[in-house]
Amino acid sequence: MQKLTIALPSGRLKEECLSLINQGNLAELTNSRKLLNFYDEYRLIEVKPIDVPVYVENGVADCGFVGKDILLESNHEVYELLDCQIGKCHLALAQAERGDIESIATKYVNIAKDYCLGNNLHIDIIKLNGSVELAPAVGLANTILDIVSTGNTLRANNLEEIERIMDISVRLIVNKASFQIKREEIDDLVKLIEYKEKGYA
Ligand code: PRP
Repeated sequence: MQKLTIALPSGRLKEECLSLINQGNLAELTNSRKLLNFYDEYRLIEVKPIDVPVYVENGVADCGFVGKDILLESNHEVYELLDCQIGKCHLALAQAERGDIESIATKYVNIAKDYCLGNNLHIDIIKLNGSVELAPAVGLANTILDIVSTGNTLRANNLEEIERIMDISVRLIVNKASFQIKREEIDDLVKLIEYKEKGYA
């Protein structure tokens, strides 16, 4: 058997992703700050969520866990193998006062461009790297496009969802060459994740 290198997203999705591949030996990793870890079956690397497809596309990692939002925004050459059924949330447009969309502030510039193309909107799209919900209150844009999970951030900033754009969840992505060379190991990983998804272990 060849060892798989798996890219894990740091931050809020890390624990859930770990639980999908944990065979009773990875628990200590949840709160660890060590970014490269070796186990019997896997070599785990922890990277920024947005960088997971970069590591997988380049073959540094054979596979990785990444949100569908990042895949849609960045368009990397990787196989998307499985919907892991975790990290469920959605992308939405929101405004302080329902009205015409005059400008959009977002981390997801490409998704916003596609939305505008599809809706024949010729407006400014402003790229931010976080705290997007602040934009309407300070007059940067009258609309935001962002992830909504619990809806708490929208509510805390007096924003109202005006359109749900798409559902998002974590996907297992695989390097194209690894998919050929390490097929057996990847099939085993997919089976393990599906088994965990069903709550068997
Ligand atoms: C994400 C997202 C929203 C928030 C949504 O931000 O961009 O701001 O979570 O979650 P909620 O509906 O449960 O409130 P994140 O916490 O990743 O920080 P960021 O603003 O720096 O992107």
